[in-house]
Amino acid sequence: MTTWMQELPIDDRVDALLLEMTLAEKVGQLNQPANVSPGPDRDALAAGRIGSSLYASGALGGNVRDEGLSIRAIEQCQRIAVEESRLGIPVLFGRDVIHGHRTVFPIPLGLAAAWDAELVERLCDVAGAEAVREGVAWTFAPMVDISEEPRWGRVAEGFGESPALSGRLGMAAVTGFQRHIGATAKHFVGYGLAAGGRDYESVQVGENTLRNLHLRTFKAAVDAGVLSVMASFNDIDGTPMHANRRLIREVLKQEWGFDGVVVADWSGIGQLVDHGVAADARDAARQGLLAGVDLDMASGVYLAHLESLVGDGEVPPDLLDDAVRRVLRMKFRLGLFDDPYPRTTADPIGPTAATRALAREAAVASMVLVANDGVLPLSDEVESLHLTGPFVDEGEALLGTWVLDGRGADVSSPLVAFTELLGDRLTHTDGRFSDLAAHRTRAAAVTVALLGEHPSRSGEANSVADLGLPAGQLEALKQLCGLGKPVVAVVFGGRPLDLAEVLRVASAVVVAWHPGTEAGPALADVLFGRREPSGRLPMTFPRSTGHVPSSVHARATSRVLDFTRDAWDGRYLDALTQPQLPFGHGLSYTTFRHGEPVASASEVPLGGQVEVRVPVTNTGERAGRELVQLYLHDPVAEVTRPKLELLDWQWLDLAPGETGTAVFTIGTDAFGYFGRDLTWRVDQGLVRLITGHDATASAAVEVRIVAAEADE
Ligand code: BGC
Repeated sequence: MTTWMQELPIDDRVDALLLEMTLAEKVGQLNQPANVSPGPDRDALAAGRIGSSLYASGALGGNVRDEGLSIRAIEQCQRIAVEESRLGIPVLFGRDVIHGHRTVFPIPLGLAAAWDAELVERLCDVAGAEAVREGVAWTFAPMVDISEEPRWGRVAEGFGESPALSGRLGMAAVTGFQRHIGATAKHFVGYGLAAGGRDYESVQVGENTLRNLHLRTFKAAVDAGVLSVMASFNDIDGTPMHANRRLIREVLKQEWGFDGVVVADWSGIGQLVDHGVAADARDAARQGLLAGVDLDMASGVYLAHLESLVGDGEVPPDLLDDAVRRVLRMKFRLGLFDDPYPRTTADPIGPTAATRALAREAAVASMVLVANDGVLPLSDEVESLHLTGPFVDEGEALLGTWVLDGRGADVSSPLVAFTELLGDRLTHTDGRFSDLAAHRTRAAAVTVALLGEHPSRSGEANSVADLGLPAGQLEALKQLCGLGKPVVAVVFGGRPLDLAEVLRVASAVVVAWHPGTEAGPALADVLFGRREPSGRLPMTFPRSTGHVPSSVHARATSRVLDFTRDAWDGRYLDALTQPQLPFGHGLSYTTFRHGEPVASASEVPLGGQVEVRVPVTNTGERAGRELVQLYLHDPVAEVTRPKLELLDWQWLDLAPGETGTAVFTIGTDAFGYFGRDLTWRVDQGLVRLITGHDATASAAVEVRIVAAEADE
């Protein structure tokens, strides 16, 4: 690039470069093979045939580790592209940096339980900073798929079932990552609706539901300036997303004005053949490009066929140019033309003391105390404590799914953290439960049982048909609980599990997800009350597997019109219908009383704002944090709407006896939705604003939306 060009706006630089490119070079920019290396790929790099590459261990990269990144290989590849190719266009190197890089934070579902966008932004900033120093320019995160399907293993990778929460955390992740590397909102769209929770399955959903629930988080990410969006593996009502021109080209690109890159998921374009909608790889390439998928991850079909497709007039050259422009624009936006090489330094990449402190803070904030008969918090003075279960001395298994660069050896395990605290007052049994565990349970003042899922039971392609604990764990827990001593159950996992029996037998239950590098110390902080538990469930925990889907978004139906808790009942003959643990649930070591919400006005003109204030009192004897949740119920709309829709939330830190006030300022746009004609509307009429501790909240204030005030 000549220096005068560097002064031009990005789009002018892109256009100038495009004019110089041959058809083969353009196609090269749309080709993203995995794991390029300077030896075997030298010729392709020098010929400008590799626009991007991702480093992954294969199609199921979240489950299998690779040997780690080689900064040297990345740098050498980049030198070949920049110094030896005709136009010197740098390669865009991607990697899945999902919930941390070297320092591992809780899995995204756990992070969502912290209900803290600022925290997510900070830790994605750290992850991006660690990754960029190893040559990574782009991550395939955040996942903002909405899912009400805990059988689907990938709920671990997302921020839960609420578009409001997931959208806001997704925006924060984009902002944090993009201080250093490009981010990707994935998977566009509807992937979380996979039939039966079986990964990659078909999706049947109408566009109204897509718009009102599933597209919202992607719109939020686009509004936050996300540089790329990844297409999803599923079809929607018969049209695979990698061929879905309506949703990708028309909605995402045209309607929303998204001018970044749409990247395929792994081999997603080539797999149009497997879907049975493309006759062969060439046909798949044609459909992918026409639909608006710009970059071909791992299938190679663009490289093999786009030149002839354009030559034969089957792909219009302007659509090809549009895709190339997007890829080049992203490279300019990331500054790769000016600074293409990894920014290596002598300092350790991580974890450092500072990143560990953040990982600990995040892990503490993610843990949800869901039941407690008073056994928690444990006293530092406890006479004896028995730590048991399959995760006692684990590092690696507490990192969670999709950890490519964090190391189990860096994890402070529960055993290490508890030993530090208790010394010889701690006994432990690890691995499988045993008779020895029973002896030690009987001998100890309290037992902490670490149960739940190994990460290999969550994440991509790891769906389950049964939400119960893995085989044998519940039986063992029951046996220990039958010994008459208090047992605290800590449940690790990547999804809402069926905890009905655990709740029945244990003295206290903590949902700890997969907490990451600082798993042990964070758990000790929460159990010993050095930090107050403050996590709140970002997904409903259903009463049983047969209750799925069970979410906060249940809609008004033709019968059971009454909007009260009782209305949940009567749908099954053999069980209650209410969730086992509702969305938003989470206890503290103190108690709170929520007062009635008060609105600043009973009428709000369209386009105006209303303020809702809710007094909350700490009625216990400890300081604590309460999350005040604000929900919307719209009793009359053009389409059926959720009985409850989370609008906003606020944390209050309250001393014993203190009363604080949560203040929500809500614009009338927050009451809008997509109507029958799929356009956005905000109706006049009554809405109910409901506030409280979780999705069983019922304190409400009514507000009437009226016509906008006429201009003076
Ligand atoms: C996953 C994506 C991931 C990609 C690259 C795919 O199998 O669905 O979420 O980003 O692989 O590793």
